[in-house]
Amino acid sequence: MAIRHFLQFNDLSRAELEYVFERARWIKAQFKAYQQYWPLTDRTLVMIFEKASTRTRLSFEAGMHQLGGSAIYLNTRDSQLGRGEPVEDAAQVISRMSDMVMIRTFEQDIIERFAANSRVPVINGLTNEYHPCQILADIFTFIEHRGSIKGKTVAWIGDSNNMCNTWLQAAEILDFNVHVSTPPGYEVEPERANLYGHDHYEEFADPMEAARGADLVTTDVWTSMGFEAENEERMRDFADWQVDADMMEVAASNALFMHCLPAHRGEEVAAEVIDGVQSVVWDEAENRLHVQKALMEFLLLGYLKV
Ligand code: CP
Ligand code: NVA
Repeated sequence: MAIRHFLQFNDLSRAELEYVFERARWIKAQFKAYQQYWPLTDRTLVMIFEKASTRTRLSFEAGMHQLGGSAIYLNTRDSQLGRGEPVEDAAQVISRMSDMVMIRTFEQDIIERFAANSRVPVINGLTNEYHPCQILADIFTFIEHRGSIKGKTVAWIGDSNNMCNTWLQAAEILDFNVHVSTPPGYEVEPERANLYGHDHYEEFADPMEAARGADLVTTDVWTSMGFEAENEERMRDFADWQVDADMMEVAASNALFMHCLPAHRGEEVAAEVIDGVQSVVWDEAENRLHVQKALMEFLLLGYLKV
């Protein structure tokens, strides 16, 4: 079987994504019923972090253990990665000693080069451009609460960052719409988002208009990791792009709110929204565990009879 990577959301087809969601549902149910499920016994996941993480590290490490395998954590600070070893060399070595690699890094190019030199599947645990595992969890969470996302409208409020780009890719594959509102100067760059077309998103100058009638309202930090030098300027530029109760009011009456976390209450989201009844952020965070277990199972074992 050819090696499959998950570097961008569109590395999986619609049918494969639907399979992964179905497996995630089953794996989650087994986990909740305290049923041991060890399809990845003796398999090793290496996790490479060049940026901070709570959820991604925890969900991959716990997930791998729960599937019967083990996980090894490497970071830039105390491995040779931080001392200039070429990513191609690191990929050759790391992939000879492990069965799968997850990487959180800066430019997408780094993970692409790693994957091109890897003998094992590589998973994107966040780059400047994309965060595909998070969007897997977000869509799985939407499906759990509201059924199919096909034809639905997601309002993206704020920065056209890695999360936004990945939502836009997902919309093309799974056939839903994204209404994007960013401050001037922070608009979507379709090339950076690597979109097949522009049929599934619409840009709005006014965030209230983007949220109007939406089935899901979602946002993220104003300053992503790696962009800290722009923080002060961004605080000013994004001040009118906070998801607050008035914005949720114009969304569909049963609209959900999501945020990949960590969140800054009083900046991109009002406390009353993230801590309110429409928010599903804790389910969303938990679902990282279940969807990534399904993803790892799929990348290593392919389709299983269900
Ligand atoms: N949402 C997310 O990826 O969280 P961490 O940065 O804590 O991994
Ligand atoms: N857009 C954020 C997501 C953090 C999980 C960042 O890249 O920092």
